[in-house]
Amino acid sequence: MNDKEILHIIKTNDQDEINSLFSQACKVREEHYGKNIYLRCLIEISNYCKNDCYYCGIRCSNSKLERYRLTPEEILNCCRAGDKLGLKTFVLQGGEDPWFTGQRVSEILSGIKQEFPSHAITLSIGERSAADYELFFRCGANRYLLRHETASSSHYETLHPSTMTLANRKLCLYNLKKTGYQVGAGFMVGTPYQTPECLLEDLRFMEELQPHMAGIGPFLPQKDTPFGNLQPGDINLCLKMLAMCRILLPRSLIPATTAMETIAPNGRELALKAGANVIMPNLTPMSAKKLYSIYDNKAAGLPEPADNLLKLKEMITGAGFLPDMSRGDAK
Ligand code: 5AD
Repeated sequence: MNDKEILHIIKTNDQDEINSLFSQACKVREEHYGKNIYLRCLIEISNYCKNDCYYCGIRCSNSKLERYRLTPEEILNCCRAGDKLGLKTFVLQGGEDPWFTGQRVSEILSGIKQEFPSHAITLSIGERSAADYELFFRCGANRYLLRHETASSSHYETLHPSTMTLANRKLCLYNLKKTGYQVGAGFMVGTPYQTPECLLEDLRFMEELQPHMAGIGPFLPQKDTPFGNLQPGDINLCLKMLAMCRILLPRSLIPATTAMETIAPNGRELALKAGANVIMPNLTPMSAKKLYSIYDNKAAGLPEPADNLLKLKEMITGAGFLPDMSRGDAK
């Protein structure tokens, strides 16, 4: 797709055109992954964060938020609960919490690997040194999620304080790739000051980086942040971006995100039909899950993980896809 075609899709409201984009995206996914939708065990390990991103509810300046941090034993127990349900990827996600030193993360990874040697571990704990990334990889982490958020550096500056730069974000992503991780990048749709040209840059950056995974979700306001009164992103634009991402990165693993489900009651199903092929049921203990409020009204799913998983599998099957409980590495 050339720039003109991409910008046209971003701007169009023509439903026939949009439907044909979605069916093309589904065809591309099917060529590589069939109808399989991979399930992951998501564990939100901490809502402490040293960063101050203007859009994010767990930013350090949010003094209204009650903070929590799972202990290594609690994290291991979440993995056990996920394994019992048959999940074979553990995703450890959290704010940039200085308590999780290289040493502590390594110990947690080693503990998980010892008990579950054949499961995949995905980390999503932000920007770290190249040395830390190498250490975590040696201790058994297989994958790393780090959204670039926006690939336009001027736009990046409007969403983050000056202590954070797009250049460093990109450096981290390239370091992760060099280390040997399956890497996930991605961006939000509908953040303040975003233009169609920003979104074009996002897709071009994805093509350049060639990540194994791509996380795309709508911006959602969180009331205790500087962007708390702004409008959320548009689900239709979000779905179009997801579909184009699928077409440009045919073998990527693309989650139907919680943010999608938050903005529309059947948001995840719509994402699957636009080319997504991953769903991440949340196994964080309920008391902590409520505090991992990166945006307002976050879809939480059913309180019982087993019921929740069953319901997700029914949704997947009902939408014409196959729930897949294998590790689901990138092809
Ligand atoms: N709305 C939508 N997504 C958000 N994220 C953080 N804050 C928000 C928000 N207000 C996303 C970021 C981050 C991911 C974990 O959650 O893209 O990388």
